[in-house]
Amino acid sequence: MSSSQKLVVLGSINADHILTLEHFPHPGQTLTGHNYQVAFGGKGANQAVAAGRSGADISFIACLGEDAIGAQIKQQLAQDRVDTHAIQTVAQQSTGVALIFVNAVAENCIGICAGANACLSTDYVQQHAELIRSAQALLLQLETPLESIIAAAKIAQQANVKVILNPAPARELPEELLRLVDIITPNETEALSLTGVIVHDEKDAAEAAYVLHSKGIKTVVITMGSRGVWLSENGQGQLVAGFKVKAVDTIAAGDTFNGAFVTALLEGKTALDAARFGNAAAAIAVTRSGGQPSVPWREEIDAFLNTQTAL
Ligand code: RIB
Repeated sequence: MSSSQKLVVLGSINADHILTLEHFPHPGQTLTGHNYQVAFGGKGANQAVAAGRSGADISFIACLGEDAIGAQIKQQLAQDRVDTHAIQTVAQQSTGVALIFVNAVAENCIGICAGANACLSTDYVQQHAELIRSAQALLLQLETPLESIIAAAKIAQQANVKVILNPAPARELPEELLRLVDIITPNETEALSLTGVIVHDEKDAAEAAYVLHSKGIKTVVITMGSRGVWLSENGQGQLVAGFKVKAVDTIAAGDTFNGAFVTALLEGKTALDAARFGNAAAAIAVTRSGGQPSVPWREEIDAFLNTQTAL
């Protein structure tokens, strides 16, 4: 299924170096791990791939390095139905890198070297202003320079393009950016950074959503891992339950949710149905290892939804 509505994703590209360990190393400790792999990742690229594989008409604004892995990633993005003409290869820069440990209970911790992602400048955003204006939705995360994210959101808002912000990784954000956002999709940690509310349960999620609504954001989607998402539209909140699966690793689970959720919205689904669709895509992703290798195609999500029941 392909939507006639256009999506632009602006964000990062990383090469993920992933190692599975029994537990995360303590300071000074060396551990032997297993399942070492280099997989294509980066929050922006993962979300672009999730949208492409879900059936969106999607263009990706991003920067990668002048290296072999950058060229391979660009080729793979095109195979994942992502329009790559707004991806810039930056001379004398290397592609972003993420070093990722996964523990025995499928949690991860990540260290990042931005590399070429740091070169996604406001000038580069301006060069692609028409692309942003031509879309119905712009999906952003926080692994590229903040001033460029704000510049892109401004262009979108002035052209009535819906702005969806996945505020990951967690950090405080200026009101200037939050004012430009139509839909925000933090996880519990990111919700804490933005609102000061510790999200353990639905009541906390409703409180965090209330704070984000008070900043002018109409739709708040707080992702809560296997429990699903708290969807709050103009202050009316509900839990959209997740699906029961056996997790291998959760790398790119949130990214998969975001890409699939926005794709479904652009197809005209309600936020509730889009969240259920995103939950299904994320549930499949956590049963597989790696970032982009774990992202499901549309047929897989539809088949999953036909066979699974919500928790
Ligand atoms: O959200 C997962 C992503 O975060 C990984 O692919 C890694 O590159 C980091 O950006």
